[in-house]
Order: sequence, then C-alpha cells, then structure tokens
Amino acid sequence: MVDEQLHAQFLANKIVALGGEPTTEPRPVQAAETNLEMVEAVLEAEGRATLDYTERAKQAEEFGDKGLAVQLEDMVRDESGHSEETERILRDWPL
Ligand SMILES: [Fe+2]
Repeated sequence: MVDEQLHAQFLANKIVALGGEPTTEPRPVQAAETNLEMVEAVLEAEGRATLDYTERAKQAEEFGDKGLAVQLEDMVRDESGHSEETERILRDWPL
C-alpha cells in the first residue's frame, strides 16, 4: 500500500514534469464476497501492475528516458514482490 502510494506520487510528478495532467480516478476495484475472493483479486491486481509497469519501462527506454525506465523497473520489482507475498498467503489458505 505504501509502495503503491509512492508509485502514484512519482508518476503524477513525472506526468506533470512532462506537461501532462495526472488522472485522479483509480482503476475500478473488483467486488469480492469473501476474504478469499478479495485476496485472489489482490493477486490479479498485483500481476496486472507488474505487466503494466513492465510495458511502461519498455516505452520509457524507447523514449530515451533512462531514469524513468529504471524507476519503472523498480516498480516492477515491488509489484512482483507483492505478487509473491500474495501467492504465499493463498498457498497457506485458510490462514
Ligand atoms: Fe502492489
């Protein structure tokens, strides 16, 4: 959660620095009826974030912004770690 806030803050500042306007609308959150469904949705969201940041890092590299590419790769590392943590929780389910 802290990682995601830092990611969002960095990206918002970068978008402004590039002359854009960051969105204030988060991606929709999938509804869950049980704790298990909620953790499964977390795993899906972490995986999606990993893929999205991987793609953005590639685009930043192609754009020639190495600093941004490295920062995005750090985000990939964070989100991959979150995925692994969530997978461990699901493997031990029920807790
Ligand atoms: Fe995450």
